[in-house]
Amino acid sequence: MIRLLFVGDVFAAAGRRVLGTHLPSLRSKSDFIVVNMENAAGGFGLHREGADGALKAGAHCMTLGNHAWHHKDVYVLMQDEGTYPIVRPLNYSDPGTPGVGWRSFDVKTAQGTERLTVVNLLGRVFMEAVDNPFRAMDTLLERDDLGSVFVDFHAEATSEKQGMARYLDGRVAAVIGTHTHVPTADTRILPGGTAFQADAGFTGPFESIIGSDPHGPIERFVTERPHRYGAADGPAELNGVFVQIESNRAVGIERYRYVEGQESGGQLS
Ligand SMILES: [Fe+2]
Ligand SMILES: [Fe+2]
Repeated sequence: MIRLLFVGDVFAAAGRRVLGTHLPSLRSKSDFIVVNMENAAGGFGLHREGADGALKAGAHCMTLGNHAWHHKDVYVLMQDEGTYPIVRPLNYSDPGTPGVGWRSFDVKTAQGTERLTVVNLLGRVFMEAVDNPFRAMDTLLERDDLGSVFVDFHAEATSEKQGMARYLDGRVAAVIGTHTHVPTADTRILPGGTAFQADAGFTGPFESIIGSDPHGPIERFVTERPHRYGAADGPAELNGVFVQIESNRAVGIERYRYVEGQESGGQLS
């Protein structure tokens, strides 16, 4: 059995800080840690400092999202696959897209070594145009060497996330959503054995609007004109999901939430 921990979108300095201080305490509860890092660099993209911090804190794999290309460091990091186990979204149309959309790992567990494949996918509803993520999964799942499959589905619409989870139910171990930065309470295992939660939630500033200082977004909503957004700081939250996986099926899933300064009431299970 693989005890997998997935941590949602790490956002800017506050997110990187709480990842560094809190993730190490979760290492003994997990065999493999996947962290979505698409917002690590000031809210936009992944830079070397963010990647190094996540690896030091215990991440075994880093996924991305619609902000995959926003920081130039990611192009360099992707060339060093041995040091930086990055998985960018699978469903881009350009065959020359840098990096990889899925990656397999041999995970050490209490029972031995088990194969795990991590996939990052982009949704298309209320998002920029990309290839069909459902067809992309069909093509990937033609392979017979993937072991258990974990999917980080980076998408806006809950319906598309539920659609993907139902489409893949019984074919992958877990479909966990990212991108909205707000954790959903629909944590469950579907009838075919696939674990699902529409959004893991993010890892970043607690007093914010999905990571930004509230001032900019509120001004934009009120005035209908663009305003400068800045990353908020202060206490941070870390949101994630624990999934227990046996032979490409989920046997357990728990939502996890930690808020700095609210240690006594921070954890949900
Ligand atoms: Fe994000
Ligand atoms: Fe995103």
